[in-house]
Amino acid sequence: MSIEVRPLRPDAVPAFRRALASTFGYDIDLEDADDAERFDALFELERMFPVFDGDEVVATGGDFGFDMAVPGGRQVRTSGLTVITVRPTHTRQGALTAMMREHFGRARERGESLGALWASEFPIYSRFGYGASVALNDIKLDARHAGRGGNEAGVTVRLVAVDEARKMLPGIYAAIQPTRPGMYKRSEAWWAHKHFADPEKHRGGASAMRFAVAEAGGEPIGYVSYRQKASWEQLAEGEIHIRDMMPVTDAAYRALWHFVVSIDLFPIVKYWNNPVDDPLVFMLRDGRAVETKTFDGLWTRLIDAPAALQARRFTADGALTIRVEDAFCEWNDGTYRLQVDGGMATCEPVTAEPDVAMPVSTLGAIYLGGRSARALARVGMVHGDAGDLMKLDDMFRSYPAPWCPEIF
Ligand SMILES: CC(C)(COP(=O)(O)OP(=O)(O)OC[C@H]1O[C@@H](n2cnc3c(N)ncnc32)[C@H](O)[C@@H]1OP(=O)(O)O)[C@@H](O)C(=O)NCCC(=O)NCCS
Repeated sequence: MSIEVRPLRPDAVPAFRRALASTFGYDIDLEDADDAERFDALFELERMFPVFDGDEVVATGGDFGFDMAVPGGRQVRTSGLTVITVRPTHTRQGALTAMMREHFGRARERGESLGALWASEFPIYSRFGYGASVALNDIKLDARHAGRGGNEAGVTVRLVAVDEARKMLPGIYAAIQPTRPGMYKRSEAWWAHKHFADPEKHRGGASAMRFAVAEAGGEPIGYVSYRQKASWEQLAEGEIHIRDMMPVTDAAYRALWHFVVSIDLFPIVKYWNNPVDDPLVFMLRDGRAVETKTFDGLWTRLIDAPAALQARRFTADGALTIRVEDAFCEWNDGTYRLQVDGGMATCEPVTAEPDVAMPVSTLGAIYLGGRSARALARVGMVHGDAGDLMKLDDMFRSYPAPWCPEIF
């Protein structure tokens, strides 16, 4: 038996979709026209790299190309790894490794200097050079304890129907996207097929998606999209499940949170992906009413290390010589002089002795500015003396914290 990565031709798309569904554990109806249309709209065949055993698709993989915000508000062309599955009969035979080689090789040719993904399991991807750069807080609060909201002067919150939401939400999101490292631009297809497509089978027993827009002086300044899940066991214990919380201004932030904690009959508010620097607990009467579980969100991988470093802005000027170890993308492996002036970096290969040394996965973890090199040094993920590690932290850190609002 020999396995091989090959292009995805249109006639193999049903087999690809079947393989994907079966490994992720759901049943697919290939006759469902909406599902087929969604697949065609979201995925570009030339960005897919299935693995075949003879004529059979035994592993699936592919990527999205998008612009992602990095510290300083710049956009970097990013290759977002997705739909990775290996059939259980073919695991631990190198299928994933072969797909990763294909993925990085193609991304490099396209000039996508950054890679990103959401990991199904923590241990899989650091060996391929990814670092967990973004953390998220999965939160749940009971508004009866936390305190219901008040009104935010000058801001009105208005429920809008899906047709109006389709027109309003993309513009609001686009105003926020450059301000947070880790947020990527959503394409029209993405809005249509990931945000607004709302088939009942994806609702998990909750309502259709609701949309509330915050406005000031008649101008939209934020939105929240959410579902309601009714519960009448003893008391009205309904739940609000937030999908997107997108305030452009601080007043919109306060108004939208006041709104979601004030929906009668639905006191339990859940948001699976709240930014880790969100000050919500300080806005509530009793911040301890918020239960929080922290997870890794987006993972980042520098595919072209000097290009990716030069693309972001840095918070402190200075120079550091950095040894980057990269056995998988050997073109990155080397020592670089990172020189930052006025927040802008140049990054050149050098032969000098390094100040700090790290695997490329650590560079991925700190790249978006949300992880401390000094903390990672405690577990051997980066080496250098205390002064140089502090300098690394001062240069790389970001406010706001990186955050990625959506799994892909
Ligand atoms: C995770 C998955 C894609 C791995 O594929 P695979 O083809 O077996 O991986 P490879 O054979 O190329 O293995 C590469 C290395 O990663 C290791 N590895 C693979 N999956 C791993 C896992 N889940 N946990 C820890 N290590 C893992 C292998 O042991 C191997 O290590 P080695 O080189 O030291 O021997 C596969 O198990 C799978 O399809 N899982 C279910 C779907 C899924 O989780 N997809 C990821 C979506 S983000």
